[in-house]
Amino acid sequence: MSCTIIVGGFFGDEGKGKIVAHIAHTDHPTVISRGGVGPNAGHTVHVGEKEFGVRMIPSGFVYEDAELCIGPGVLVDPRVFLHEVELLGASGRIFIDGRCGVIEEEHILRDKGSEHLTKTIGSTGTGCGPANADRVLRSARQAKDIPELAPYITDVAEKVNKAIDHGEKVILEGTQGFGISLYFGTYPFVTSKDTSASQIAADCGVGPTRIDDVIVVFKAFPTRVGEGPFSTEMSLEQSHSRGIVEYGTVTHRERRIGNWDGMMARYSAMINGCTQVAITGIDRVDPACFGATDYDQLTETAKVFIQQVEEDVGRPVTIISTGPELSQIIDLRKKQ
Ligand code: IMP
Ligand code: MG
Repeated sequence: MSCTIIVGGFFGDEGKGKIVAHIAHTDHPTVISRGGVGPNAGHTVHVGEKEFGVRMIPSGFVYEDAELCIGPGVLVDPRVFLHEVELLGASGRIFIDGRCGVIEEEHILRDKGSEHLTKTIGSTGTGCGPANADRVLRSARQAKDIPELAPYITDVAEKVNKAIDHGEKVILEGTQGFGISLYFGTYPFVTSKDTSASQIAADCGVGPTRIDDVIVVFKAFPTRVGEGPFSTEMSLEQSHSRGIVEYGTVTHRERRIGNWDGMMARYSAMINGCTQVAITGIDRVDPACFGATDYDQLTETAKVFIQQVEEDVGRPVTIISTGPELSQIIDLRKKQ
């Protein structure tokens, strides 16, 4: 296994960050490169006692032995990027491709000022949609045009491909989720780019023949932020009574919660070319599984759920997250 893509199978926020961190600590990649839209994505990073909502730096940050890259397909907001690099002390091991599109203050104003984007679609207001529009119109600036970004600029595509050539391990990190893909999601209630595994590879400049594994991450109880259809959505009373309450990392909006959607999972796995499935939040299926590190510690209820997932998706479940900590995980990959 030399090049692995990790993507979200539902509507984003599946807990990809933790799966990336676990695989990085287990497989020791030399390069972790993120694809995806831009700073509309968010993940939480713990540094000591402190918690940070991070939007530009890859979640692979927590694995200190890898170089971190932002692929040319991604939009960079220089203010957000430079702030995070300083906050997390990532300087020296983070690189941006010079061809990344740049988000200007004006893009954020256009995003927040558009009733269609903020009200109808429920955008994150981070300027991604307008910046991608300008990129398509070929009027957006590129990262290499911004003097403050100069110390971080490199040819990410070349760096990633060379690492693969040398037989090193590489992780390509997706953001967002399948259901909000511009191409395959619930249009128009989607983000401003495709979010599937092929797009993540393209975002980082990696061709399809170079990918060894595609791990699709599904939440046992999917969530959605923003507007748009959500066929298995439950009422707030139902989700609250199950003790499930979540807030968006970027917008702090309360996330909508739904039940497992086998049909969507199967379709998502097909388009993503899924080879393995990761399940997060199994402790919500049965709280008795909280913190389990071995398959045998799972309850019958949880095992039945996992079997159902494998039947629905048609691929093996190889990673099961049982709680928020990095150690609270079951990894069946070596047993395959
Ligand atoms: P935009 O990408 O900010 O234009 O937002 C469009 C839609 O995608 C909204 O419903 C957002 O809530 C959703 N969205 C964008 N990025 C993410 C993400 O990283 N996780 C979850 N939802 C997202
Ligand atoms: Mg997120």
